[in-house]
Amino acid sequence: MFKALNKDELDIVIDAMAEKKINAGEVVIKQGDAGAVLYVVEEGQLDCFKKFGQDEEPKYLKTYEPGEAFGELALLYNAPRAATITAKTAALLWELDRQTFNHIVKDAAQKKRDKYEDFLATVPILQSMDNYERSKIADSIKEHDFAKGDKVIQQGEDGSVFYLIISGEAYATKILKEGEQATEVKNYKAGDYFGELALLKNAQRAASVYAKTQLKLASIDRDSFKRLLGPLDQILMRNMADYSYYNAN
Ligand code: CMP
Ligand code: CMP
Repeated sequence: MFKALNKDELDIVIDAMAEKKINAGEVVIKQGDAGAVLYVVEEGQLDCFKKFGQDEEPKYLKTYEPGEAFGELALLYNAPRAATITAKTAALLWELDRQTFNHIVKDAAQKKRDKYEDFLATVPILQSMDNYERSKIADSIKEHDFAKGDKVIQQGEDGSVFYLIISGEAYATKILKEGEQATEVKNYKAGDYFGELALLKNAQRAASVYAKTQLKLASIDRDSFKRLLGPLDQILMRNMADYSYYNAN
C-alpha cells in the first residue's frame, strides 16, 4: 500500500507512526468496532478471523507476518472493522493514524486499487482469489511499458519479478541446447503471466521473453509474489506441464 508513495510522502508517514507493543493473545482489532488506525507489523505474528454471518463461527483467514499491514479497510472505506486480528505471539506494531493516512496514503492507495480492479478480475490465474486478495495485488503492482521487439526477460539471468500482461502481446523463446538458436516456445496476450519459474524454483530465467507489439506489463516483486500468490502454488505448478513439450529436463 505504501508503494504508491514518493520519498517525501513516505517520510511523513514514517514520522507519524507510533510504536505499539502487543502481548500474545491480545485482540488488536475487533470485527464490527470503529477503526481509527492501521498497523504495520515489525515483529511477531497475528491471526486474522472473520465472521461472515451473524451466527457464524469466525473463519481463520490468514496470519500476518513482519512487513505486512492490516486495518486499512476501515480507513479506506469509513466502515466498521471487517475482521478480528489477534496476536499469536508477542508483537511489535507501528500504528498510523487516520488523519495522516487520509492525507497521504488514502488517495494513492485507493486510486491504485481502483485502477487495477477490473484488469485483475479478468486475469485467469487470479480467478480463485476474492476481491480483497486481488486488491492486495493491486497495491504491489509496478507498471512497465515496452516497445515492439524489446526484450523483457533474458534466459539465464537472475530474476526477481513476476509479470502479468495488461495489454499487448509477447512471446517466449528458449535455447533448448547450448550453441543452438532459440526456438519460439510460447505466445502471450493480455491477462497472461510469465516469469514465475525463477521465483518458484529460485532458478535463473528459463526462457527469454520479448514484446511482440507495444506492451504494458504489471510486475510483482518476489516478496509480494510469495506472500500474495503463494496460495496459487498448485495451479502455477500444474500449468508448468505446458513447458514440458520443449524442456528435456
Ligand atoms: P479493517 O477492516 O480495518 O480491520 C480488519 C482487517 O483485516 C482489515 O481492515 C484487513 O486489513 C484485514 N483483512 C484480511 N483479510 C480480510 C478479508 N478477507 N476481508 C476483510 N478484511 C480482511
Ligand atoms: P522464468 O524462468 O522466470 O522466466 C522466463 C519465463 O518464460 C518462465 O519463467 C516462464 O514463465 C516462461 N516460459 C514460457 N515457455 C517456457 C518454457 N518452455 N520453459 C520455461 N519457461 C517458459
